[in-house]
Amino acid sequence: MWARVVLMVGIAAIVYFTTFRTREKKFATQREVLELRTQPLDCSRPYLDEISKFAGCIPNRCGRFVSDKIVSPAEAGILLDLARAGFEMGQSSGGASILDLHSGALSKGTQFVNVYRLPEAKKLFTNQHINVYRHVKAKIQQAVAENFRLSVDALHLTHPTFFSRLTNVTAKTIHDEYWHAHVDKETYNSFHYTTLLYLTDYGKDFTGGRFVFIDNEGKHNRTHVYIEPKRARVSGFTSGAENMHHVEQVTGGVRYAITISFTCDREYAMADPKFALDDDDDDAGGTGEERPAEP
Ligand SMILES: *[C@@H]1O[C@H](CO)[C@@H](O)[C@H](O)[C@H]1NC(C)=O
Ligand SMILES: *[C@@H]1O[C@H](CO)[C@@H](O)[C@H](O)[C@H]1NC(C)=O
Repeated sequence: MWARVVLMVGIAAIVYFTTFRTREKKFATQREVLELRTQPLDCSRPYLDEISKFAGCIPNRCGRFVSDKIVSPAEAGILLDLARAGFEMGQSSGGASILDLHSGALSKGTQFVNVYRLPEAKKLFTNQHINVYRHVKAKIQQAVAENFRLSVDALHLTHPTFFSRLTNVTAKTIHDEYWHAHVDKETYNSFHYTTLLYLTDYGKDFTGGRFVFIDNEGKHNRTHVYIEPKRARVSGFTSGAENMHHVEQVTGGVRYAITISFTCDREYAMADPKFALDDDDDDAGGTGEERPAEP
C-alpha cells in the first residue's frame, strides 16, 4: 500500500518536472573566452517574409552568436570610460539609464535630455572615443555579415543604438523596466539584426543581469538560454520572434552595455554619430529627430 503511494508520488513528480520545468542552458559563461559560438534557428515566419525583400541581407539561417574576439578589452575599456563620463551628466531615477550618441538622448530623472546641449559634454568626447566607437561598430557589422552570410553593405546602422546602465534601483517609469520578455522586431520595427557589446563583468561588477533567450515559449520544452555578460563580449542575433529574450533584473552593482542595431532597410539607416560639439553651433549633435539615410 505505502509502496504504491510512494511510487505514484514519484511518477507524479517526474511527470511534473519533465512537463513544466523550464530547462536552463548556458550559451556563454563568464569564465569562458569564446572565439565564436553559434546556435542556428529557424526564422520566424513574419521575419522571413519581411527580410526576403532585401537582397544581400537575407540570413542563410536565423540564429545567434557570441564572440569574445571581435572587440578587444582595451577598446571596451575606452567605451566604458565614455559611458561612465556620459552617465555622470544624467541618469534615470529608476534603474535603467540610456545614452544614445546618435540622437543625443540621455536619461535624466524620469525624462530624457539632449546630451549635446549640455555644456559639460564638450569635454567628454575625444577623438579617441570617436575613433574607437566607429571602429568597434564596423567590426561588429562585419561579424554580423559573416555570421549570417550577408553582404556587409546591405546592413545599415539603425536607431536606437545606445549605451545602457542598469542597477537594482526601483523602476520609476516604464523605461526603467528592462526585464520584460520581448521580440526586438516587434518593439523596434526597423531592427533586423541586434547586437550587444558588454562593458562590465557578470559576477564581478554586478550580479543578476544575465541576458536570457526564451526558446519554445508556451511549449512543454520551454528553455532559457543564458549569456553571462563579460567585458568586450559581443552577442548578435536575428531580431525576429525566434529570438525572444529579456535581461534579468540586476541585483547589485552596475551593468554597462551597448546595443548596436542594424537594419536592411535603407529608409531606416542612420549615420555614425558626429559627436558634433562645434563651438558656436547650439544645434550640433542633432535634435533627437530621425537622421537622413546614409549617402
Ligand atoms: C519543442 O517542442 C516543439 C513542439 O511542441 C517542437 O516543435 C520543437 O522542435 C521542440 N524543440 C526542441 C529543442 O526539442
Ligand atoms: C542593490 O545593490 C547594492 C549594491 O550595488 C546593494 O548594496 C543593495 O543591497 C542592493 N539592494 C537590493 C534591494 O538588493
